[in-house]
Amino acid sequence: MRIQQNIPLAPYTTLKVGGAARLFVEAGGETEILDALRFAREERIPVFVLGGGSNLLVHDSGFDGLVIRIALKGIAQQGHTLTAAAGEEWDALVQLSAERNLQGIECLAGIPGTVGGTPVQNVGAYGQEVAQTITQVRTIDRATLTPLTFTNAECGFAYRRSRFNHEDIDRYIVTAVSFRLLPGGAPSLAYADLQRAFLRSETPSLMEVATKVRKIRATKGMVLIPGDADTQSAGSFFKNPVVPPAVYEAIADGRASVPHWPAPGGVKLSAAWLLEASGFHKGFTLGQAGLSTKHALALTNRGGATAAEILALRDHLQAAVEARFGIRLEQEPVEP
Ligand code: EPU
Repeated sequence: MRIQQNIPLAPYTTLKVGGAARLFVEAGGETEILDALRFAREERIPVFVLGGGSNLLVHDSGFDGLVIRIALKGIAQQGHTLTAAAGEEWDALVQLSAERNLQGIECLAGIPGTVGGTPVQNVGAYGQEVAQTITQVRTIDRATLTPLTFTNAECGFAYRRSRFNHEDIDRYIVTAVSFRLLPGGAPSLAYADLQRAFLRSETPSLMEVATKVRKIRATKGMVLIPGDADTQSAGSFFKNPVVPPAVYEAIADGRASVPHWPAPGGVKLSAAWLLEASGFHKGFTLGQAGLSTKHALALTNRGGATAAEILALRDHLQAAVEARFGIRLEQEPVEP
């Protein structure tokens, strides 16, 4: 185990803001994770687990403890199940599934980050979410320092939610995830944007769907492009709020144009729409922080932003939407 000191964290995040980790270790296997956890326990210092850094807002003060970077690699196929180590690039797994004609995650192409992060917030896009295909999540229990595997039912999945970001937040470190896929399955075209794209064609291949999803995401600045400020973000910064039907009716006020979808527990509204309707157009800036010019829901670092500037923009947006609609937008990215 090689522990490094004073390692800047911004380069490990897609937002590219924030200070340094006092101590930093790259873990290539479960043994290294366990060694690092034991070390932190002996030294009585806090631990932060770093995955792909795509849903992460590091403060300017950095992290005064030990950052464990999950660098576990390897993908194995058993029957129609792909099991990937937590440190594998998510989009590479999607690509592999399409190449092997295994259906179930093709609509999740182009999402930045690593495999280990996907069950934590139940990553979803274009009508798919990982909860639909995950069979097992292998973890290390930080309380007992032993490996523990969860079945899908035990993960407590819901929209952008699991036990790993709710009741058991910070307790388990994901080390591998298994996805049961459908061989030769027809691609899922649940989402209007995707249906439109394939209106005139025969049933597209999984590869064609994955490629199209990456293209659609790119037009919204949701695929990482180094040097493109619109993609220097943590993806959607806020969740789409689920509200009682009466709240939606009051906002819509007879208009059909307010985006909304049925959801468990009420009506899901578009956080991007709420922001724009509160006066924040795409490209709105506050200091070096701003909304993406391609999608109002991505808070971006326009170049050299501090974490404080991102936080100030977040607070400003939340306060304005709350004042206008009485809805408190809930943040997606985690803050160590
Ligand atoms: N809209 C606006 N302004 C914008 C963008 C969108 O008003 O700048 C409205 C449009 O009316 C549109 C609606 O919002 O119909 C939905 O927009 P979009 O299809 O882009 O999806 P989203 O609800 O904003 C969600 C996920 C994304 C995921 C897309 C595609 C959340 C919080 N976000 O965004 O996930 O890629 O759907 O399925 O659920 C992420 O979580 O980081 C993420 C990128």
